[in-house]
Amino acid sequence: MDKIVVRGGVSLHGEITVSGAKNAALPLVFASLLTDGECTLQRVPHLVDIRTALRLLRDLGVQYDWLSDNHLALCARTVRHYEAPYALVKTMRASFLVLGPLLARFGRARVSTPGGCAIGARPVNIHLDGLQRLGASIRLHHGYVEAQAKRLRGAYIPLDFPSVGATENLMMAATLADGTTVIDNAAREPEIEDLATMLNAMGARITGAGTPTITIDGVDSLHGAVHEVIPDRVEAGTFLIAGAITSGDLFVRGARADHLTTFLAKLRETGTHVEEQAGGIRVVGTGRPSGVEIITRPYPGFPTDLQAQTMAFLCLGDGRSVITETIFENRFLHAQELVRLGADIRLAGNTAIVHGVAMLSGAPVMATDLRASVSLILAGLAADGITEVSRVYHLDRGYERIEEKLASLGADIRRIKE
Ligand code: EPZ
Repeated sequence: MDKIVVRGGVSLHGEITVSGAKNAALPLVFASLLTDGECTLQRVPHLVDIRTALRLLRDLGVQYDWLSDNHLALCARTVRHYEAPYALVKTMRASFLVLGPLLARFGRARVSTPGGCAIGARPVNIHLDGLQRLGASIRLHHGYVEAQAKRLRGAYIPLDFPSVGATENLMMAATLADGTTVIDNAAREPEIEDLATMLNAMGARITGAGTPTITIDGVDSLHGAVHEVIPDRVEAGTFLIAGAITSGDLFVRGARADHLTTFLAKLRETGTHVEEQAGGIRVVGTGRPSGVEIITRPYPGFPTDLQAQTMAFLCLGDGRSVITETIFENRFLHAQELVRLGADIRLAGNTAIVHGVAMLSGAPVMATDLRASVSLILAGLAADGITEVSRVYHLDRGYERIEEKLASLGADIRRIKE
């Protein structure tokens, strides 16, 4: 397992370009199952999770080609079977997003339930309840969801929670249903809007994406489309923290401020200088951040995917911060590793109390999940001495060559292949 070694104390300077959004590209590649036409996606990031998704699609019979770097063509004309095996779904839970498209286009699917992960139980009940409302018969058997439907029927679907994945699965399924579907209390993330944009380009009739109420008028079939993936707001936020925590001066090209409103407001509240410019966002670190209160919420609230990175920054604050995680029940795994670097963090249920310290000191630490791993690298960039982050396979799932990107900004960072 590879390790990443960081020597802290270097202020980052320069410009970095954000890749396409992982959490947009994943539902987008699965949407190709809805048509026998060719779907072409631009700005697809080269990530382990994308490779896993493409492995699953190829296993189903979907053809795909990388036309150029980050430019991907997919065609689901010849789907051979309708099963997503446990081996693939357990390595990447987003594979569960093949359920809606397979059911809508072929009337059947057998998809392994994803199971839990490090950050929480992550059930799929909201997905399944919605598909049943669309007329699917659902059976849970030997760890698999077995779903069937002659033809899905439009329905009113109130979500108990604005689940991102459930909104995506149900929106895709409803595009080919007979009649109109209304998803209420829908997730509002930019990745939902991006998926709706591509589905409409494929001939779907979706309105309201990005609001709590999405309406989908079912059609008989969809055709291929060309679509550019939105920039990754989580990667953008990660680089903004990298600039702030090292008291550097970075321009994050491609970052969209309208996708990061709550996060940017909180970053400014810490005293960090954040400038929205044409084509991206500039961050200038101004020393130790002021303590702030953070509560993660569904979009457009503070994003849970930037909670660990922000905690790393607040560990060096000149005051007390209180961070409450409301989306996942176990998303503080990075806290104990940050404490190894000298941070003062106390956990009480889903709340972390962080008392800022003047200095962190480098040490060997272990990554536990995707965003936790990058928070340890961010802390290492500012810590005194050497920080070694092990199990960086977590990192590679969601960040494209991050150590090269950080090194291009001046960081003393390298990957050691074990
Ligand atoms: C998506 O996961 C993202 N992943 C996550 O990013 C992100 O943290 C999450 O949305 C929240 O924003 C992708 O888009 C691939 P949810 P998803 O369904 O769809 C509960 C990353 O780091 N829930 O909105 O799985 C669930 O347990 C990843 O890039 C149910 O109870 O998130 C969780 O507590 C991590 N029943 C909450 O809702 C359900 O049927 C949010 O889950 C579905 C979800």
